[in-house]
Amino acid sequence: MGAILAAAGSAVGLGNIWRFPYETGNSGGAAFILIYIACILFFGLPVMIAEFTIGRHSRANTARAYQILAPGTQWRWVGRWGVLTGFCILGYYTVVAGWCLEYVIDSASNAFANKVSADFVDMFNSFVSNPWKPAVLMTLFMLATHVIITKGVQKGIERSAKILMPVLFILLLFLAVCSITLPGASAGIDFLLKPDFSKVNADVFLSALGQTFYSLSLGMGCLCTYASYFRADTKLPNTALSIASIDSMVAILAGFIIFPAAFAVGINPDAGPSLIFITLPNVFTQAFGDIPFIATALSLMFYILLSLAALTSTISMHEVVTLYLHEEFNFTRKKAAWVVTIVCGFIGILCALSFGVLSDFTIFGKTLFDAFDFVTAKIMLPTGGFFIAIFTGWFLDHRVLRAELSPCRTLHPYIYRAIIIILRYVAPAGIAMVFFNELGFFS
Ligand code: PHE
Repeated sequence: MGAILAAAGSAVGLGNIWRFPYETGNSGGAAFILIYIACILFFGLPVMIAEFTIGRHSRANTARAYQILAPGTQWRWVGRWGVLTGFCILGYYTVVAGWCLEYVIDSASNAFANKVSADFVDMFNSFVSNPWKPAVLMTLFMLATHVIITKGVQKGIERSAKILMPVLFILLLFLAVCSITLPGASAGIDFLLKPDFSKVNADVFLSALGQTFYSLSLGMGCLCTYASYFRADTKLPNTALSIASIDSMVAILAGFIIFPAAFAVGINPDAGPSLIFITLPNVFTQAFGDIPFIATALSLMFYILLSLAALTSTISMHEVVTLYLHEEFNFTRKKAAWVVTIVCGFIGILCALSFGVLSDFTIFGKTLFDAFDFVTAKIMLPTGGFFIAIFTGWFLDHRVLRAELSPCRTLHPYIYRAIIIILRYVAPAGIAMVFFNELGFFS
């Protein structure tokens, strides 16, 4: 139960509440969501089942798992690739987690009171371009992750996840109702529900694919590592289905909070990474402006929960890299954790400052933060997913797959066949096509 909760905790995080709305906003709304749901069914779920299989069967960290299942082959590079990906995501993910901390402080000090939409945009911009604040908060968040990883209080986190997730879900549901009932919200609901396929291009497919892997923590061995702690009788396909459903519901709920509010107060849905930070305070102040106490309590609760949800995700990334250094390089756990914290912290500081003092430093026209987000989510994770699908579909002994997926033959044979066919053909071909499409091969 703990391991499954931890896996769900890894999946639900900023990817759902921060990244999903901004990707949806950039990609035109409902049509993106439909493609995203298709990506979850055809790529996300099968690759999650594959990672679970690899993890539980090998009972090892992600890099060693491939050495156990395919000794002496180059497959171990898939595990190493995952470790590198986790390392890069952790570096910039903590920047956004640091922003959440700032909003916890703002909520507690009542900084949203008597403000209107334009003020929230100014507030956000002046905060992220501050020469030290975002870097300090990011460092604090990284240190919090470090303490949990080294002090072994994961158990406590798992237990709190049990309470945290339902509370977060109820709060999101409540905020969605508040947002939908704001005057002028209906344009936002249309944006979410009425697909406009004329806006769909190669970028939209790549964004949906990247978001699938990102949100489900797939393609980098995170869930593989957690699955190594699953019980022998945990039903892998059912567990994958539950995690994917919870994760998607949280993301879609976040969409129902952000877009009605954004349209109601005149914020462009394609505002990018700032979207939730400039939209949400409006929901608190507009819906509860007359009762400031409730507005403060709600926003405080929301940002604390969001920070905790981000923490259960950063722990999972940190753990993958720490465990790898600890087991493969014989570092002590403490030393391994410090290496990860310091190097990722350094990347994080650079990314945090890329909205301000380092904003002129670009790579292919992208700031450091955007470059890390693009490369990890849209290139590294789908590439990892591609090889995980091929490994499980083509190279893993089918007896292993059958024993892990359906130990007591409880899985319907059609479902079993469907999983195999998707892992062998559909997922690899689909991911490759999205990449080729992005490179302009089909246009
Ligand atoms: N899935 C996490 C989220 O939605 C992010 C994450 C990605 C965590 C990859 C681990 C690995 O916030």
